[in-house]
Amino acid sequence: MTPEAPFVVAIDGPSGSGKGSLAGSIAERLGFHLLDSGAIYRLLALKALQQRTDLDDEAALIELLREFDIRFEPGEELTIPFLDGIDVARELRQERTGDAASRVARHAGVRSNLLQLQRGFFRSPGLVADGRDMGTVVFPDARFKFFLWASPEIRAERRYKQLITMGLSANIADLLAEIEERDERDRSRSVAPLVPAEDAIVVDSSLLDLTQVVELVMEHIESEI
Ligand code: DC
Repeated sequence: MTPEAPFVVAIDGPSGSGKGSLAGSIAERLGFHLLDSGAIYRLLALKALQQRTDLDDEAALIELLREFDIRFEPGEELTIPFLDGIDVARELRQERTGDAASRVARHAGVRSNLLQLQRGFFRSPGLVADGRDMGTVVFPDARFKFFLWASPEIRAERRYKQLITMGLSANIADLLAEIEERDERDRSRSVAPLVPAEDAIVVDSSLLDLTQVVELVMEHIESEI
């Protein structure tokens, strides 16, 4: 049997749709590398918040990227993100950081400056990349493109459980409002908006648990490799 050429599995979708968990499971099943592109936007947002950079100031944000010291290390369960050598896992998952990431991500110049960094994650034997524009912009030639959807109410409930498990406080009604606001901002921005790639397989996970979504996605992949 000839070995497979390395390929990309792109998983896009709105905040809280379960992309991260799905991407992690698929990467593990395939033995592939993982790119959590949202974490990169969150790291930049965190840096901007720390330095009190105006999130509307595109030039200032691009300037921050000149000394953007980030790395990811495998943790016991999740990957640990580092900013300037410091473990920022907790700060990164907070809603405040997610909201700031969505604001930072509106700028075309920021996005184009982050393209190479994201593409650099592509390594043999392959990459599972999750985000908003993996299949449309960053890896348009991805061999597999999935768009994971779930209703805002289900996503708010999932996020609530996730935050509580992490020992953070949360309120479902606030989370739902934040999710709807963030969806709207991500969907309506002029660059790389949150839309499924034309050739993406749309998976509605509202009524499925993680195991079922993983099986569904793996069936698609295994039927073609
Ligand atoms: O997936 P996430 O919630 O960690 O992403 C945080 C924000 O980053 C999201 O609201 C929009 C932005 N983002 C983006 O614009 N493009 C990506 N590929 C990933 C995230």
